[in-house]
Amino acid sequence: MSTACAPAPATPQAKFARVTEILDHHGRDPARLVPILQQVQEAYRFLPQEVMAYVATALDLPPSKVFGVATFYSHFALTPKGKHVIKLCDGTACHVKESVPILDALRRRLGLSEAKKTTDDQLFTIETVSCLGACGLAPVLLINEEVHGQVTPQQALKLIEGLAAEEAKS
Ligand code: FES
Repeated sequence: MSTACAPAPATPQAKFARVTEILDHHGRDPARLVPILQQVQEAYRFLPQEVMAYVATALDLPPSKVFGVATFYSHFALTPKGKHVIKLCDGTACHVKESVPILDALRRRLGLSEAKKTTDDQLFTIETVSCLGACGLAPVLLINEEVHGQVTPQQALKLIEGLAAEEAKS
């Protein structure tokens, strides 16, 4: 089940109601910590600190254990990500096939940088990743888990413009 596009609940009560549901779904089993955190991240787009503390209490685990798992796996994010997550592969094959100009173009368009990965309106996050396992399609761009191969900076910008236009309509 994917709730990746579900907006994070607005109120603190709603926030904890959602995590309570997730915990109940996993039988509040401490051995299920990783899948619990994965689902929490899908729901909130990141792992809010207060929610991790709540998970620790509910599973009767030390907060340091939950935080340790959250920081160990690069998949987990401790700061909010945008609604649309753009991952640009900068593995060797993609780098050779000019991934950097794509990254530069996207960052320029969205006003982002190495240090600032998410737009102020929380719509877009740009990350670089190492090999996505699709080197034959290099350079590879992943937008919301959808693979786009052999992209040019112009095509990448067009994809972003399409998403921005959809957002402007909604
Ligand atoms: S290096 Fe980019 S997919 Fe392998």
